[in-house]
Amino acid sequence: MENRGTFGSKLAIILTTAGSAVGLGNIWRFPFMTGQNGGAAFILIYLGCVLILGIPGMISEFVVGRYSQSNAARAYGNVGFKRAKYIGYLGILTSTIILGFYAVVAGWCLQYLYASITGKLIGDTSYIIEYFKNFSSDPIRPCLWGVGFVLITHYVVAKGVNDGIERASKLLMPLLLILLVIIVIASCLLPGASKGIEFLLKPDFSKVSSNVFLEALGQAFFSLSLGTACLCTYASYFKKDTNLVKSATQIALLDSMIAILAGLMIFPAAFSVGVQPDSGPSLIFITLPNVFRQAFVGMPIIGFVIAILFYALLVFAALTSTISMHEIGTAFFHEELHLPRNKAAWILTTVCGLITIFCSLSVGAYSQIQVFGMSLMDFCDSLTAQIMLPTGAFFTSILIGWFVERKLVLNEFTNNGSLKATFFSAYLFSVKFIVPLCILLIFLHQFHII
Ligand code: PHE
Repeated sequence: MENRGTFGSKLAIILTTAGSAVGLGNIWRFPFMTGQNGGAAFILIYLGCVLILGIPGMISEFVVGRYSQSNAARAYGNVGFKRAKYIGYLGILTSTIILGFYAVVAGWCLQYLYASITGKLIGDTSYIIEYFKNFSSDPIRPCLWGVGFVLITHYVVAKGVNDGIERASKLLMPLLLILLVIIVIASCLLPGASKGIEFLLKPDFSKVSSNVFLEALGQAFFSLSLGTACLCTYASYFKKDTNLVKSATQIALLDSMIAILAGLMIFPAAFSVGVQPDSGPSLIFITLPNVFRQAFVGMPIIGFVIAILFYALLVFAALTSTISMHEIGTAFFHEELHLPRNKAAWILTTVCGLITIFCSLSVGAYSQIQVFGMSLMDFCDSLTAQIMLPTGAFFTSILIGWFVERKLVLNEFTNNGSLKATFFSAYLFSVKFIVPLCILLIFLHQFHII
């Protein structure tokens, strides 16, 4: 059998899987979702989704992947019954669409990195808003950055799991965390920042509608990379002594902590400089340059360096996530169609590159590219986060809870009996009943069936 490679050390496992989870979902999507859905109440529901649905969901994907040690489709087919492979197919499709629109935003980050190095991001709030509008509505530049990002991802993935992913994560993930804390402090010290802190910490439940539940659910799954079979694919490279429960819990906590730090970085500053909290996908791009300029007003050089470091680390965080999305499809085409890894990677790159171009144009120069009254980019985002990810997680839960042999799940859960099975019954109860029922209820409520 072909040697698929495994992740090197325990730390590498946590960091690379956390690298998939931590990305633009935390730093770009979480703040704007929070801003559009009322602040603190959304965050509480989001955290509830992570704890009650996210962690058991992650463990389930880990069980499928590590047991089968193969690509997503084969893994699902191996673990229960043959047709379960369709859950894997769904995951591959979902992650391909996500990569397509995610690369657009990752491309914006690349542009902002370039602009911060060349000193183009210095100006007052209206200049920064105008800058974003001009750039994102250009027909060519955002497409080039976005497609460039897909190509960088391709390069790393085509090199293989061990080489590309592990090395950089070890150093840059902790650095991102430190930088976030520094920017949070700077943002909270801006005049008028307390309103933003209040917005994040004082829940107003009068704004909570059924849609907020679905948005929070989608955000939790998106941020944890859950429901795309991505965690299943990564778990297929885990070692037999990796503690699945502990890894899932640690990654979920780290991921949520980074999201909340991102909120604390954005909202105090947004309130301070007068950017609307519900400005949508442009929120971080029009808020942060103001922080870098105003918080370090006496020491512009420090603001300049922090801005460059921040965008560089944001690009890196996005890359560790796009690598994981790309890896799902590449492993599938490589192992199922017996294509060389590089060729398999090219299939993904071509499809995603095309999605990136259309999504980019739909938010910029050709906003008439609409689906169901939304730009193609918003459509891809809503379709994946609100429908495809919860559907993937729903069927994975049903599969593990009702169809997979209990002994197999227990063996993976306890590493063949070498760990205690303390939470096993609670986990099994959760995947049998709680996870599928909650997802179903949120769906039914959203579509006004109950
Ligand atoms: N979790 C990633 C983020 O927060 C996005 C992602 C979604 C990655 C699905 C892989 C699969 O940025």
